[in-house]
Amino acid sequence: MSLPARVRVCEMGARDGLQNEHTVISTGDKVRFIDLLTDAGFDYVEATSFVSPKAIPQLADAADVFTRIRKKPGVRHTVLVPNMKGYERARAVGADSIAVFTASSEAFTKRNINMTIDESIAVFGDVVRRAKAEGVWVRGYVSTAFGSPFGDRVTPAMVVNVSRKLMALGCDELSIGDTIGVGVPSQVDELVPALAREIPLDRLAFHFHDTRGTALANVYAALQHGISIFDASSGGLGGCPYAPGATGNVGTEDVLYMLHAMGIETGVDLDKVRAASRFIASVLDHMLTSKAFQAMEALSKK
Ligand code: COA
Ligand code: ZN
Repeated sequence: MSLPARVRVCEMGARDGLQNEHTVISTGDKVRFIDLLTDAGFDYVEATSFVSPKAIPQLADAADVFTRIRKKPGVRHTVLVPNMKGYERARAVGADSIAVFTASSEAFTKRNINMTIDESIAVFGDVVRRAKAEGVWVRGYVSTAFGSPFGDRVTPAMVVNVSRKLMALGCDELSIGDTIGVGVPSQVDELVPALAREIPLDRLAFHFHDTRGTALANVYAALQHGISIFDASSGGLGGCPYAPGATGNVGTEDVLYMLHAMGIETGVDLDKVRAASRFIASVLDHMLTSKAFQAMEALSKK
């Protein structure tokens, strides 16, 4: 068995994480959090969303946040855009890396972005074409790839179908998401080879939520199939406001702890991520869920 020697960890905390927080977080605190993450060694830090402020009030300050964060060569500060209006808002403040998002569940797509999957592909077709013409890097998200919160069935063939369409639009990378944290390694074993028949492995990221404690097992399963890009969230922040009961992404500290101990390089400094998590924990009204973060904090208090 050969595992990748190096893995890219994409940091989600400031977007996927904060979008689900009820406490209103000030723009300054978001900027500080992102700046701390930017210094930790990631090459990808998702910063905010240019979605409707009615859909995600927490990220209504996207333009201010994006303008104020410290940019660093080699670090992509990607922003989520749901339509052309979001694209234009993002470009107006200089974003050069965007993410579009659809799903493999019709019911989820309807609640999340008020479109059918086909409508979303049409809307994103225009956005991605324009982005590519303007030299903008594009990631495509396929949410609910392991199950839907609304009871409709999701199959690997449906995930492959949406993924193929997003790649055909011109996305540089896809992130396949277990939005509600229901996936198990046997599903990864089935899905990755099905995707890999159509999409180069080095353009596929996986995005696991840890709602039922299966995220790290899924990361390990995907590693065994040669996947080397994983999304994770500082402290395990997050959830999805349109997926009832969903909790955060797998904690970045958990992923880094496991990978580094297995001898897999990431280029990310675990202590710096922990410092970012500690900072954001100080402005939230709850504990962070990452086990590795909790363990490091407990040990340091001894
Ligand atoms: N940025 C800011 N405002 C936007 C916007 C954007 N990208 N897109 C639409 N709006 C505004 C419109 O101007 C309109 O405002 P008005 O009511 O003041 O006239 C309003 O939002 C409704 O616009 P409409 O085009 O009818 O959209 P909708 O109500 O069908 O909502 C989305 C569609 C995609 C804009 C919305 O569902 C959304 O932003 N979803 C994002 C959800 C999300 O981020 N989920 C978490 C990520 S997994
Ligand atoms: Zn997510």
